[in-house]
Amino acid sequence: MPFIALEKVHELHNGYCRVFPVAGRQLLLIHSNDQSYAIDSICPHAGASLIKGKISGGCIRCPKHGIEFSLVNGVAQGGEVVADVAPLVFYRVAVEGDRVGIVL
Ligand code: FES
Repeated sequence: MPFIALEKVHELHNGYCRVFPVAGRQLLLIHSNDQSYAIDSICPHAGASLIKGKISGGCIRCPKHGIEFSLVNGVAQGGEVVADVAPLVFYRVAVEGDRVGIVL
């Protein structure tokens, strides 16, 4: 499986969030709670961009309608209101040498 390098490991810090174009899509590389995540930048609720989403408490909050998605499992938070919203789309994060990236 091909590794696609995105960022130098030493650039990561809690609160890091940057967009990368990969294979025709926009991916968000996020570092939160000492963990790195790579997600599709399109909100699964109604397709808004998550690029300006707010990250806190292990979640990303979509700027369009305010739904928060867990960065751990991708699930929309908030009970019944968001029960039918699909989870975030994750990409597998890996580290090779001094680079963090994704494995497709
Ligand atoms: S489009 Fe993201 S919460 Fe609605």
